[in-house]
Amino acid sequence: MSDQARTNTKPQTRRTYPAGYGIVEPVANYRPWDVDEQFQEVYGLVRDATMVDIYRLWTLWFIASQLPDGDVLEVGSWRGGSGVVIARALNAGRAGDRSTDRDIFLADTFAGVVKASARDTYYQGGEHANTSVELVRDLLERAGVPQVQLLAGVFPDDRAHEIEDRGFALCHIDVDVYQSAKETFEWVWPRMVRGGVVVFDDYGFYGCEGVTALVTELAGRQDGSDGRLTIVPSLSGQAIVTRTVY
Ligand SMILES: C[S@@+](CC[C@H](N)C(=O)[O-])C[C@H]1O[C@@H](n2cnc3c(N)ncnc32)[C@H](O)[C@@H]1O
Repeated sequence: MSDQARTNTKPQTRRTYPAGYGIVEPVANYRPWDVDEQFQEVYGLVRDATMVDIYRLWTLWFIASQLPDGDVLEVGSWRGGSGVVIARALNAGRAGDRSTDRDIFLADTFAGVVKASARDTYYQGGEHANTSVELVRDLLERAGVPQVQLLAGVFPDDRAHEIEDRGFALCHIDVDVYQSAKETFEWVWPRMVRGGVVVFDDYGFYGCEGVTALVTELAGRQDGSDGRLTIVPSLSGQAIVTRTVY
């Protein structure tokens, strides 16, 4: 397992946190990810290629099995792990999914985090550059997900125009910092289909305060002019936004 994957998929028990932060210890005990053979198979394939822990991957897997019609976009794919879990959930064809009708786009700079700003406490730019298009292509091939297309470059600036006419059923935003997360959300939100879901990976993590702030801002935005949003904060650390009413 790579260093970053190891660090980011284990609780940081020896760390000191400021007020409002600390290890989250839910008391639930239903663990469907342990016994779902299809999920376990893909988890085995991606665990060395993702910074996303099994709880968040399971959440993506479960959401992806219930989507309305529409394409799928992930911004912040790094080595492709979370993107492959989403693609394989669609391939698993649960809940009558018509996965062959969907395109799945995985976007990354492949040069690390960009647009870090004063809103972000940890990130400065350039982190997580230890990936490549070739590495992700190799994983996609091993995972057998031919409907996945890579968008290399800064999103939305460099590549969004290529998919601007699409309707999206799922957007996974895993870009670590406020400005990239905001620009991605503002770009994709008007393109989300009814019942579509946006998942922010970074909402509940110390060091990703910019994304926490963005989600908090969005929760206060209920003007209804561009589809009503409902945000569910998950104890996994994700924030899950559904487009509920037009
Ligand atoms: C935490 S990693 C993503 C982890 C990945 N989802 C996984 O399964 O491990 C964040 C990624 O976001 C990418 N990124 C950040 N801002 C971006 C932007 N505006 N456009 C494209 N990629 C971006 C970085 O290059 C980095 O690879």
